[in-house]
Amino acid sequence: MIEAALTASAAKKSIWSVTQDLPSSDLLTHNAETDVCVVGAGIVGLTTAFLLGKLGRAVILLDDGPVASGETQVTTAHLSSAIDDRIANIERWHGADGARLAVQSHVSAIDQIERISTELDIACDFHRVDGYLFLAPGDSEDTLREECAAAQRAGLTAEMIPRAPFKSCDTGPCLRFPNQARFHPLKYLTGLTEAIKKQDGKIFTHSHCDSIHGGDVCRVTVGQQIVKSKAVVVATNSPINDMFAIHTKQAPYMTYVIGARISRGTVADGLYWDTLHAYHYVRLQECDSTHDWLIVGGEDHKSGQSQNSDQCHERLRIWAAERFPIGDVEFTWGGQCMETMDGLAFIGRNPLDKENIYIATGDSGMGITHGTIAGILLSDLITGRDNPWERLYEPSRKTLRASSAFAKENLNVAVQYGKWLTPGDVESSEEIEWDHGAVVRRGMTKIAASRDAYGKLTEVTAVCPHLGCMVQWNKAERTWDCPCHGSRFAADGQCINGPANVDLAPAKS
Ligand SMILES: Cc1cc2nc3c(=O)[nH]c(=O)nc-3n(C[C@H](O)[C@H](O)[C@H](O)COP(=O)(O)OP(=O)(O)OC[C@H]3O[C@@H](n4cnc5c(N)ncnc54)[C@H](O)[C@@H]3O)c2cc1C
Ligand code: FES
Repeated sequence: MIEAALTASAAKKSIWSVTQDLPSSDLLTHNAETDVCVVGAGIVGLTTAFLLGKLGRAVILLDDGPVASGETQVTTAHLSSAIDDRIANIERWHGADGARLAVQSHVSAIDQIERISTELDIACDFHRVDGYLFLAPGDSEDTLREECAAAQRAGLTAEMIPRAPFKSCDTGPCLRFPNQARFHPLKYLTGLTEAIKKQDGKIFTHSHCDSIHGGDVCRVTVGQQIVKSKAVVVATNSPINDMFAIHTKQAPYMTYVIGARISRGTVADGLYWDTLHAYHYVRLQECDSTHDWLIVGGEDHKSGQSQNSDQCHERLRIWAAERFPIGDVEFTWGGQCMETMDGLAFIGRNPLDKENIYIATGDSGMGITHGTIAGILLSDLITGRDNPWERLYEPSRKTLRASSAFAKENLNVAVQYGKWLTPGDVESSEEIEWDHGAVVRRGMTKIAASRDAYGKLTEVTAVCPHLGCMVQWNKAERTWDCPCHGSRFAADGQCINGPANVDLAPAKS
């Protein structure tokens, strides 16, 4: 059994959530009015709210969990301007000027995080470190040469060096990108939350936003309550107010992470990633006076489309143990990234909507820097200031040079609808083991059935409330994941990720 090699105690929580409590606030229990209503308190929502507050705008920030309870608490928080989808591809898709602007925007995002944490005196373990891109087995040095040249053309310092600074293994030639950074995301967002409150911004948590309407006066509803504002920023990671326009241009991928102790000095402090398709990503975080945690991520797969997600953490452990003298795996976690068709996020006015509704989505694996870019760009757009990145991140863009990726992902979505006709994973709920879930066919429809660790059965519909795809059980996360646009639901059907904004309905008997 592969899974048995992980320690029994490996927590399904990120290092961040174990080492920093999530800030909580009051529920929204009254109608309210403000300049800008921000929905979602992750890196996007909090950065936008803080920068708008600095510009003198009144802000109400709503989240249906505690602050930073979405993807930002499961990030690995590499702060990098060496773009994940490769600068050479960004240049292909967006041209040389686009690549230069994209790199510059990520450089500015890292600078902004450093500036905010210094100005507000947030002890968030921010450190400038170098980034290293090394070859996956079988890949050629040409990959590095091409990326090095593209990075330099885009204005980013990059150099080829003989090996990454690991004592325990030789990566062979790799690229070094100086002046990248790392931080503790939840310590940073806790500091931002306090700063927003000091600015007299209003934060309401456990307040689920049901609907969003733009117009002369925007209206955001939270149960019976209404927040009226001049503009709304939908910062829910995957926009909950958009049916098609954005969700046909980005694809959801699950990604997994482990954290294991390693003696300090074995691996130089830095950011590391390889050229594998579904690449590994590695960084350190201080643990005690003699050890760091080595954080290793990867094993990505299209959401709702893997039969063996329960093996992802163990595969990461094996990959890491082959290269580094790690101790037991103490942490395992995972989350979802939104990959856009052209490698850059969608930040700006929501397409096909009123002018004063804004979105930020499509992290492309760089949602902490893209999220900070969103804070800068959206606060500029809302306050009528020019911003050089506006066109690059325009959500209504269609990047013709990336159209084959667009067609491939949408064909994949179309195939998922075929699951309406296939049999269930098992014949009946009786076959489902404790702590497992499976889809069961019942007449013309399908049921998402799961048993908890005590054997209690829960049955909800398997039909995703967004656009009707069939959800699939994620064995690693114990969630129902939609293979079409990435809505995710807890075992009991509770919606935990958009674009769906309601739970899976109880199954009809
Ligand atoms: C494993 C992993 C590793 C990653 N590593 C990196 C990395 O190294 N570097 C990097 O730059 N990026 C990384 N990313 C991506 C990055 O972490 C995310 O893109 C980013 O944190 C998303 O921030 P966000 O503000 O858009 O969304 P979130 O943090 O998800 O915030 C959205 C908020 O909206 C709230 N919400 C949703 N619906 C509603 C509603 N209806 N009403 C009210 N509130 C609502 C949620 O509760 C949530 O708090 C990683 C992601 C994962 C999963
Ligand atoms: S997320 Fe679109 S159909 Fe499920």
